[in-house]
Amino acid sequence: MRLTLTRPAPLRRRLLPAAVAWALAGALALVGCGGPYPQSTFAPVSEFGAKLDQLYLTIFWWAVGVFVVVEGLLVYVLIRFRARPSQAAPARGHGNTLLEIAWTMAPVLILIAIAVPTIRTIFEVDGTPPEGALRVQVVGHQWWWEYRYPDLDIVTANELHLPQGRPAVLELTSVDVIHSFWAPRLGGKRDVINGRTNRLALTPDSTGVFLGQCAEFCGASHANMRLRVVVEDSATFAAWAAREAQPATPADSLPAALKPGVDEFTEMRDPGINSCLICHTIGGISGGIMGPSLTHLAGRSTIAAGMLPNTAENLARWLRDPPAIKPGSKMPRIGLTEEEIAALVPYLQSLR
Ligand code: CUA
Repeated sequence: MRLTLTRPAPLRRRLLPAAVAWALAGALALVGCGGPYPQSTFAPVSEFGAKLDQLYLTIFWWAVGVFVVVEGLLVYVLIRFRARPSQAAPARGHGNTLLEIAWTMAPVLILIAIAVPTIRTIFEVDGTPPEGALRVQVVGHQWWWEYRYPDLDIVTANELHLPQGRPAVLELTSVDVIHSFWAPRLGGKRDVINGRTNRLALTPDSTGVFLGQCAEFCGASHANMRLRVVVEDSATFAAWAAREAQPATPADSLPAALKPGVDEFTEMRDPGINSCLICHTIGGISGGIMGPSLTHLAGRSTIAAGMLPNTAENLARWLRDPPAIKPGSKMPRIGLTEEEIAALVPYLQSLR
């Protein structure tokens, strides 16, 4: 039996459309890298972030080198040794010791070249706190972040304030499931695990507000577990810390117009478990710690772990029906009346 082969179209005509399609797809993909994006690791603002960026670039250029050599050889062989109509089948060879050693050793050397800077960076960013570092205990909750500054007597939530140029060590733990703390411009992720304390040491080098979020799936509102890191110059940070360390204005000293809000906050509702105080503390009025401390709530720019700007309208929306905004929210729909909400909102907004 004889096979009849039809002659294929010339190589160039067959390859051209595919090459154009790939070039277009590549260009489109690269457009996505334009930035600047608020959560880009390519614009680090701490020495930790800069080390990771440097490591990434080192490995990227190694990969570019490997790509150019391998693809170059491939294209050369495809063109130089392509089938010609008149040509007989090429002779076959079996084994070439030199080649086999070469293509075993080349990846080994490349992997060593990648492993050395990687392992060095892993040890450099292992979270060992430098001398004089600011300690912050970070506690992951479903679905918000608690920040405690044990040396400054501060407890706050969702917006982490750090001074520029001073090393900080974050001591990360969780009260429930595994979370992961990630503010990309400040450095790498670190897991936040119940019963364990992981450390993350970094020195912010630029002021600004840097966004981040939980990076480990932790339940229904994982994607709503956002965080903001506010890096300030040392004077601004000191002023913030001094304000945060103060208790809230005692209820007796509040303007009369805010009294109904305090009453709403402290009142026990049916069936006696739905007081705000069961879960929230306002410094000076002690309360629970299931929910974020509200002592200086009005000093934060967002509520609900970075989901909504901190406005009267959004506070009212939240009080009306938290799970409608944050699915699975531990704060239930309490069934507050519009009157009760109208009393609570100005009081909450007075907590500076
Ligand atoms: Cu916490 Cu995802």
